[in-house]
Amino acid sequence: MRVEKVMEYDLKDEMRLELQQLLVECFSDDYPKDRYYFKQLPHFRFIVFNDNSQLVGHVGLDYRVMNLNGEPTKVLGVIDLCVAKNDRSKGIGSLLLAKIDLFCKHKAVDFILLFADNKNLYLKAGFKPVRNRCKWLKIDDENQKIYGIGHEKIEGLMIKEVGNRKWQAGELDLLGYLY
Ligand SMILES: CC(C)(COP(=O)(O)OP(=O)(O)OC[C@H]1O[C@@H](n2cnc3c(N)ncnc32)[C@H](O)[C@@H]1OP(=O)(O)O)[C@@H](O)C(=O)NCCC(=O)NCCS
Repeated sequence: MRVEKVMEYDLKDEMRLELQQLLVECFSDDYPKDRYYFKQLPHFRFIVFNDNSQLVGHVGLDYRVMNLNGEPTKVLGVIDLCVAKNDRSKGIGSLLLAKIDLFCKHKAVDFILLFADNKNLYLKAGFKPVRNRCKWLKIDDENQKIYGIGHEKIEGLMIKEVGNRKWQAGELDLLGYLY
């Protein structure tokens, strides 16, 4: 098994196709059938290949400044973490989260942030649930258009402190879309 870090603009056609197949397999009917991203391209990805060089796991990463109670805050966002059905429960999801932790060392990242329906994997990896009121740009994933600004608490928001700053309750302006 090997894990590769790939910048989005370096993805080859073949890998895009494999990614799309994995994403549709993992997120089923929710995922657009003709795309390898949901709403927006991530900046880079960690991609896991098995010993037969098949793509079996993936996570997208979005590096962004957000506004936490008026403070510019550097956030690495976790997008579409997924593992092929036949390869689950073997630690690949946890391995990808560990890769992200390692990546953040000595980098200008204050927090890793994600939205989770199921918190189990992330609690084990040291993420904590937070309940900030969020503001974000709403994108309709079907026709890829902006349709407004959301402003509410979002169930499933989780963060991990990876720099010197402590997370705060209050207002979080995502300064962009919600992944
Ligand atoms: C979530 C997911 C990436 C975990 O990958 P994995 O390689 O099986 O992860 P690990 O082997 O490191 O850990 C497995 C543990 O993750 C937890 N888990 C299972 N499904 C989960 C989910 N959808 N979200 C969060 N945690 C989950 C369970 O505690 C599981 O323990 P178990 O094997 O004893 O049941 C994989 O189940 C998946 O691709 N699911 C479909 C896509 C998805 O829901 N992604 C999360 C988006 S927020």
